[in-house]
Amino acid sequence: MMARTSDIGRAAGILRAGGLVAVPTETVYGLGANAEDPAAVARVFQVKGRPPTHPLIVHLAAAEQLGDWVADVPDTALALAGHFWPGPLTLVLRRGRRVPLEATGGLETVAVRVPAHPVALELLSAFGGGVAAPSANRFGSVSPTTADHVRAELGDAVDFVLDGGPCDVGVESTIVDATGGTPSILRPGGVTPEDLEAVLGRPVAAGSPNHIRVPGQHPSHYAPRARVVLVDPLEIATEAQAAQERGHRVGVFLPPACADVPVKAHAVVTVPESMADYARGLYGFLRELDQLGCDLIVASLPVEQGLGVAIANRLRRAAGPR
Ligand code: TXA
Ligand code: MG
Repeated sequence: MMARTSDIGRAAGILRAGGLVAVPTETVYGLGANAEDPAAVARVFQVKGRPPTHPLIVHLAAAEQLGDWVADVPDTALALAGHFWPGPLTLVLRRGRRVPLEATGGLETVAVRVPAHPVALELLSAFGGGVAAPSANRFGSVSPTTADHVRAELGDAVDFVLDGGPCDVGVESTIVDATGGTPSILRPGGVTPEDLEAVLGRPVAAGSPNHIRVPGQHPSHYAPRARVVLVDPLEIATEAQAAQERGHRVGVFLPPACADVPVKAHAVVTVPESMADYARGLYGFLRELDQLGCDLIVASLPVEQGLGVAIANRLRRAAGPR
């Protein structure tokens, strides 16, 4: 199951030769290519079916390499990298010349992170360069958190799948604009706003006050095949039953507080009480309900604190207009 040393060598060779490798990280699996190879990067966009203007994240083996890939490293970026790397934090900084515009979707900024997964770090060290990797799913759909998800979703389109077991965090990295001035959260993720604020010593805004362009923020994203509707937790049972009576095959995300409420539905997932467990399981639950043939998923938003911020963000987008 888990990648061996020979697999790492093989994967590094494929990257050097311009191929694509699915890489386990602590957040989700990435679809990796040599960040300095425009043709390999172009293949990533093609395999994902992603518009070429949506920038990729460049993954590095260690924070010490940051200066090789960005034009400058503001003090705040240095502090955040020092504290959170390796880990689920992505920093958007001014693009260094080593990064081709193909990887940044034409932007003069680049997103970089050092992932906290032993297999990813071994691969990055063996390869030596930067690995440009979006999540290893088709554009707009649910991110993969196991090697099997990647195989099911991308099949032969990827040259090699490095199996690193199930992802520990389960939602993507937090993306922070650290280009200058006040840092802001462009995408909530595995590092919580509270954690960022503790390190920065001040509140962190969401959005892009520096007016940098942020592609890849479509309202519909992270979506299963089934339509997702979000309702108040107290209305889940009635909503599910009504939809079931209208002829839907309903899947339910039952909040832990409602675990004892009887629900008539095609399939029910009882949401874990711990936000870390919920984040870890989220994409797997969505895939599972798809696989069971549900065409509608009824869910509610968790409290938006800690990892609940990222979970709520993904659920809203999963429920967004298609
Ligand atoms: O956890 C993660 O971040 C995973 C793993 C594989 O590292 N990767 C991931 O990549 O989620 P992806 O491509 O699915 O999402 C990256 C997002 C893009 O959609 C875009 O919004 C943002 O990062 N991004 C990348 N470069 C950017 C830039 N220069 N400026 C602003 N946003 C950027
Ligand atoms: Mg993605």
